[in-house]
Amino acid sequence: MPVFDLDAWVARSRAIDLGEIDWEGVSRHPVAPEIIRTLRYMQDIESHTIVYTRSLLATRAIADPEVATFLACWLYEETFHGLALARFLQAAGQPVGERERPRGSESFPQWLEARLTAMLSRAWPDFCAVHMMWGAINELSALTAYRRLAALANHPVLSGLLERIALDESRHFFFYYRQAERRMQRRAVARVARLIVDRFWAPVGSGVQPGAEVVFMARYLFGDDEGRAAARKVDDTIRRLPGFATVRLLEAWIERHAEAADGNGGRNGHGQQ
Ligand SMILES: [Fe+2]
Ligand SMILES: [Fe+2]
Repeated sequence: MPVFDLDAWVARSRAIDLGEIDWEGVSRHPVAPEIIRTLRYMQDIESHTIVYTRSLLATRAIADPEVATFLACWLYEETFHGLALARFLQAAGQPVGERERPRGSESFPQWLEARLTAMLSRAWPDFCAVHMMWGAINELSALTAYRRLAALANHPVLSGLLERIALDESRHFFFYYRQAERRMQRRAVARVARLIVDRFWAPVGSGVQPGAEVVFMARYLFGDDEGRAAARKVDDTIRRLPGFATVRLLEAWIERHAEAADGNGGRNGHGQQ
């Protein structure tokens, strides 16, 4: 992986050009209901970024100028992912509509999570290391999920759009990963970060989306052999970080939750689609 250069990274930050997408062409190709359901999940998560950022801004994250600059670009790009996916759903005749939860309000677990994050950040000067680690895992999962979705959807307009989104996710991943790698060099920091990830990590969207939707998406994207291999690759990449060699993430979560949901091992030969 090349050396990280923040100036070069920032110079490449731009929003998805919605004018470049062939929206007219969307309805010329079928979109399976499972794809729509997965897209709704992803659109919700992407457009939730600003809510997530609210609790993040109350932490030490913004004390580091590199991280603060990154977060500004990151939020801008993620917001456009949400807009682009909403536009696709609309073009496919499945508009997103009003969110059930009014934006800006939090459920009690979300409120508690935000408070705990803020407390941990105040108590532990190296809190940012966990944030970077968390970001690396989630961006790589998102990148992998978008690639899986593009492969499963086999829709020319959607594939082009998802490829463009995946490009941003890989840039986000690169930033977080490089930061995490640097910060995990300190063994004590890596040990605490590992404890927190082991205890609290769950796929992006857990706590924001209903549990059944998280399980559906995990099974749909990662339930077959190719999906499992992709999930394993995510875990293997994160295991290269100091202190994380034995961490169990996406694949283990799928084993625990998605397969346990019906005990049949995901989509393999069971007509889950
Ligand atoms: Fe995104
Ligand atoms: Fe991202």
